[in-house]
Amino acid sequence: MAPNSSDKILIVEDEPDIALALKLALEASGYDSSWACDGEKALAMLQEKQHYNLMLLDIRMPGIDGVEVLKRLKSSGRDMAVIMMSGHGSEDLAVECMKIGADDYISKPFVLDDMLQRVERAISHRLAMLDKKRLEQEKEDFFLMLSHDMKNPMAAVIGSIDIMREGRLGVVNEEQVEYLQSAIDSCNEVVTMIDNLLDIRRFEAGKMHLSIRPFDPAEICRKVVGQLSRAAERDGVRLSSNISEKTPDVTVDRKALTRILGNLIGNSLKFTPEEGEITVSCRTYNRAETAVIQIPEYVSVPEGFLNSECFVAISVSDTGEGIPSDELRCIFDRFTQSSSSSGRERGGAGLGLAFCKLAVDSFNGVIWAESTAGQGSTFTVLLPCSTVTKDN
Ligand SMILES: Nc1ncnc2c1ncn2[C@@H]1O[C@H](COP(=O)(O)OP(=O)(O)OP(=O)(O)O)[C@@H](O)[C@H]1O
Ligand SMILES: [Mg+2]
Repeated sequence: MAPNSSDKILIVEDEPDIALALKLALEASGYDSSWACDGEKALAMLQEKQHYNLMLLDIRMPGIDGVEVLKRLKSSGRDMAVIMMSGHGSEDLAVECMKIGADDYISKPFVLDDMLQRVERAISHRLAMLDKKRLEQEKEDFFLMLSHDMKNPMAAVIGSIDIMREGRLGVVNEEQVEYLQSAIDSCNEVVTMIDNLLDIRRFEAGKMHLSIRPFDPAEICRKVVGQLSRAAERDGVRLSSNISEKTPDVTVDRKALTRILGNLIGNSLKFTPEEGEITVSCRTYNRAETAVIQIPEYVSVPEGFLNSECFVAISVSDTGEGIPSDELRCIFDRFTQSSSSSGRERGGAGLGLAFCKLAVDSFNGVIWAESTAGQGSTFTVLLPCSTVTKDN
C-alpha cells in the first residue's frame, strides 16, 4: 500500500541526528511527520488536536521513557500504531512493550529501508484492525436494532391484534378471527427468527446466559405440545404425543429446551401437509438399552457422553416432505435450508436448527435428524440423565 500524505507519524526520539534522519526518510516517502524530543513532549503533543497514525517511539529516553509513554497511550484508549525503537541492551524492554500493545519493534542502528517497510506494514495493519472494529461495531448496532427496534414493536403489534381478535374492540366474525390469528402467527414467526438470530450470536460470542439445572423433560414436552396444538389444528395436522409418565430429570436451561422443541415442532408443522401427523415422544433409555439408539456417524458426541447411566431421548417425527439424506448434516448450519424444501415459500431464515444445535451442545447432549425424502423426518435430542438432584 502506498503511503498516504494524510498518514501522520510522530517520532519520539531524544537523539536529534536519528530523529532528523528518520524525518527526512519518512517525508521522502510521502509521510507527514512531527518530532518530539522526549516522552513529556510526546504526551503533550498527543493531547493536541492532531491525529497521528503511528508513533516511532524510542525506549530509552531521559525523563518519561518509551515504556511509560506507551502505557499512558494504551490506557488513554487512543488508537494509533506504535513501533518501538530499542537500543543495544533494551531488547527485553522491547519485548515487554509488545506485550503492552506495541505493534512492532526495531533495534538501533537500523537500515532506513527496513524501518520504512515496518512503518508501512504497521499502518496498513492498523487500518485493517480499524476496519474490523468498525464492522464489529456495525454488527453490534444491527443486533441492538434487531432486539430493540424490531422485537419490541412486534410485541406491541401482536398485543394489539390479539385485543381485536378477542373481540374486545367490537364483534369479530369467525373469518376475521382466523385472519387476525394468522397475522399473530406470522408476527410470532418473525419474533422467533429474531430470538434465534440473537441467541446464535450470544452462543458464538460466549455471552449466552443460561440457567442450567435439573428439569423434568416430560413436563416441558407436554407444555410445548399443548401450546402448539391449536396451530396444528388450524393447519389440519394431527399433533400427538407419546411421553413416558415417569422420566428422569435432564440438566438443561428450561427456556432453551422449550425453544428447541418449539423450533422442531414448528418445522414439522411447516413441512407437513394437511392431514399429516406429528408425534412428539419422550422416553428413557438405561445403559443396557443404549445399543438401540443409533446416533449417526456424522454427529460428534461430547467426551464421556456414552458413560452416562441413562439417557432421555426427545424426538419429533412427522409425515412431511422429508429431507434428502446428503443434507441431513448441513441443515444444522445457520442460514441453511434443504434444496428440496417447499417450506421456503413459507419463509424462514434457516436459523432454528442452528439455535437447537448450539443449545443442545450447551447441555452436553446431541441432536440429529433422520429422514427419507418424501416420507417424513425424525429429529432426536438425546440428553444424559441428570446426576444432580433438584433443590426444590
Ligand atoms: N421437519 C422437517 N421436514 C422437512 N425439512 C425440514 C424439517 N425441519 C427442518 N427441515 C429443513 O431444514 C432446514 C433448516 O431448518 P431451520 O429450522 O434451521 O430453518 P427454517 O425453518 O427454514 O427457518 P427458521 O427456523 O429460521 O424460521 C429447513 O429450511 C428445511 O429445509
Ligand atoms: Mg425452523
